[in-house]
Amino acid sequence: MSLPPALSALLDRASVSPSLLQAPGPDQGALHLAVAAALRAPDHGGLKPTRFVFIDGEARRAFGEILADSLARREPATPPERLEIERGKPLRAPLVVAAGAALRPGHRIPVWEQEATAAAGVMNFLNALDAQGFGSIWLSSGALRDTTVKAALGFAETDALLGWIYAGTPAVNRPRPVRPEPDAFCRSWTP
Ligand SMILES: Cc1cc2nc3c(=O)[nH]c(=O)nc-3n(C[C@H](O)[C@H](O)[C@H](O)COP(=O)(O)O)c2cc1C
Repeated sequence: MSLPPALSALLDRASVSPSLLQAPGPDQGALHLAVAAALRAPDHGGLKPTRFVFIDGEARRAFGEILADSLARREPATPPERLEIERGKPLRAPLVVAAGAALRPGHRIPVWEQEATAAAGVMNFLNALDAQGFGSIWLSSGALRDTTVKAALGFAETDALLGWIYAGTPAVNRPRPVRPEPDAFCRSWTP
């Protein structure tokens, strides 16, 4: 069956492991389009909470220090070898993106809806990178909830960090996913 191209793209998107992401990373034009796609996520109240912070080149080293410091603070017993791994993580791919949400606590739109908008935006961002031939993966870590890390990246204490997006050019043909059987995940409701 021939599918509309936009639907094929959605069905075929797959994450690419950071170790398989090489230079070049997405250029400014590609990132601009990906952010524009993110801003088309449903947005109750039009609050535009979605935020992206790009970390590339040498800035990745400084960011690695921030991640290692965060881990050492959160888990003081962490052995030096493990801290070294944490320090090197951002260097695995040409671009790391801190994806976040600028939240408005107390607004009539609940915070969870604002976070849902930003998360939906991140998904659009990943799909837009994939559509332009770039690979990416959405990762997380305890550092996402570390207020020191948030501040270092320019986020307010009330903001949420939603993930680290690693992006680059896939080193191999991008793996295409096995599609789960939809029937197991949906049903019709009858009263
Ligand atoms: C909020 C969020 C955080 C995630 N954090 C991690 C993570 O820390 N490590 C990991 O291996 N996968 C993580 N994932 C899952 C990957 O992004 C990815 O979905 C998974 O590797 C499966 O690949 P696929 O997207 O091609 O199905 C996370 C996904 C989301 C939505």
